[in-house]
Amino acid sequence: MSDNRPIGVFDSGLGGLTVVKELKKLLPNESIVYFGDTGRVPYGTRSDETILRYAREDEAFLLEQNVKLIVAACGTVSSVAYMTSEELPVPFIEVVNPAAESAVEATKTGRIGVIGTPATINSRAHARAVLKRLTDAVIVANACPLFVPLVEEGWIDADDEVTYNTAKRYLAPIIEGRVDTLILGCTHYPALEKVIANIMGDGVTLINMGTSVAQKVKATLESTNSFADKVTVDKYYVSDRAASFSAIAKNLLGHNIEECVEQVKL
Ligand code: DGL
Repeated sequence: MSDNRPIGVFDSGLGGLTVVKELKKLLPNESIVYFGDTGRVPYGTRSDETILRYAREDEAFLLEQNVKLIVAACGTVSSVAYMTSEELPVPFIEVVNPAAESAVEATKTGRIGVIGTPATINSRAHARAVLKRLTDAVIVANACPLFVPLVEEGWIDADDEVTYNTAKRYLAPIIEGRVDTLILGCTHYPALEKVIANIMGDGVTLINMGTSVAQKVKATLESTNSFADKVTVDKYYVSDRAASFSAIAKNLLGHNIEECVEQVKL
């Protein structure tokens, strides 16, 4: 049996595309319906109640597109609104536990850093997920609220001075914490991977959850026997101007999606 319905992926904006990139690599036959809530980004500086409401609205939109599975490609939603999964008629994949698993696999010293949005860091979701798997781990966490606007603005070049200096300041306590592994706890952050890697140095493994999330999606489709057998067209919906989204998306995905992007009202 095959299931040619698309996989639904959502985020507050562009960040979830770093997960889409890995999904397309691992599951080239699958079609994607993406929703980027660019009209309301960022989520990570808002209250848990607001994030929960936004997550429910995003998921309802994807269900209207007849998706067979939903990926919350957003560290913030996965940290504070994961309970919405209980209300869904389709499987739900979040991004916190896959990141924690990869970090526990990668660390040698047990000293693990986590960076994310303020809502994500305040929730301590990654710390809990790591400590469940490695009880004596030491977690060093810091919120980096300016990273999401920098990515949405497209300031992602490794030699961008403003981005470099901002990252240097946010990462100082993580460096001081002598971690050997750093979880990029927000899906926007892999877009800044080069800058972060330059500052953290070679001795620190960066965890981009996209790869392990894609593995989780594959395992879920396998267990529900619902792989697609042919590719249809991917579709990208946004809640604000499509043009700026398309321009930066090209950078993140490595190909042009302009013709598949459409602005919608939730
Ligand atoms: N990509 C979202 C995350 O993973 C960004 C959240 C935000 O909009 O602040 O947390």
